[in-house]
Amino acid sequence: MKQSVTAFAPATVANVGCGYDIFGFAIEEPGDIVSISLSTTAGVTISEITGDNGRLPKQAKQNTAGFAVIRFLEKIRSDQGIDIRLTKHLPLGSGMGSSAASSVAALIAINRLFEDPLTKADLLTIAMEAEKLACGTAHADNVAPALFGGFILIRENDPPDIVELPVPENLHCTIIHPEIEIKTLDARKIIEPFIPLPDAVKQWANTAGLVAGLYKNDLDLIGRSLTDHIIEPRRANLIPHFDEAKQSAIDNGAIGCSISGSGPSIFALSSSLIKAQTIAVSMSNVFSRYSIENQTYISKINRTGARILDEKY
Ligand code: HSE
Repeated sequence: MKQSVTAFAPATVANVGCGYDIFGFAIEEPGDIVSISLSTTAGVTISEITGDNGRLPKQAKQNTAGFAVIRFLEKIRSDQGIDIRLTKHLPLGSGMGSSAASSVAALIAINRLFEDPLTKADLLTIAMEAEKLACGTAHADNVAPALFGGFILIRENDPPDIVELPVPENLHCTIIHPEIEIKTLDARKIIEPFIPLPDAVKQWANTAGLVAGLYKNDLDLIGRSLTDHIIEPRRANLIPHFDEAKQSAIDNGAIGCSISGSGPSIFALSSSLIKAQTIAVSMSNVFSRYSIENQTYISKINRTGARILDEKY
């Protein structure tokens, strides 16, 4: 019997411009690491969280990793005591799928500890419940790509209908995280529930264009289709200097650029590593000029998603 399993789950870019709540992709790094161990103490405990500056709740029920483990044990009808150690490499409230990376890594690890009794589809359902705990809605556009990897379409949430889309080999992603915190819950509140039909028409044309671009390996079509006519214009106001950062990404070769998830991180897609690096420097310079601390990440699309790092017997 295994005593402990450690797993990694990656950062993710949700929405991908035009696809609010329906598109997401995983990147290679950074990601969160979760170790799950058998414990002689009853219930689920979190003995250690590092990398969060003491900000995440250690009560298992209130933490997305802990909550996911509790729901997993309920589902397999086990009363085994479990201890969790969580290493956060993702900034909180960054729009890079921080809560999703923690719950998905925890689920992959505990599933392996129990010899994989649940399918990835089962794990997805639990991870979506954990998202609801973290930000009020059970959207799958971070947890699905974190779990499965790749570029994901969530055609339906209930029940989840997950479609893995092809990704052009040379597609590169640059992410900048300006050190401003935005809570997803707050960023969702500012979105009006009804949208004008002309905006809706443009938006669903772009979602179709983006899917077609991925299948056709057509980076120009992907770039043209990223434009978000509905969400970005509202949320951009939450991110100081967003327009300037986006323009600098485009000027430096990005095929498209938008808010990553609910922000404040911004992602830009490009066709080469060199361009991705140039875009990172240009966007970083914008925020640095205004004395806003920032970090940049460059990655291809992560095609494998969460993975096991270590198993101890
Ligand atoms: N689709 C979600 C939103 C993602 O934009 O609110 C949150 O990371």
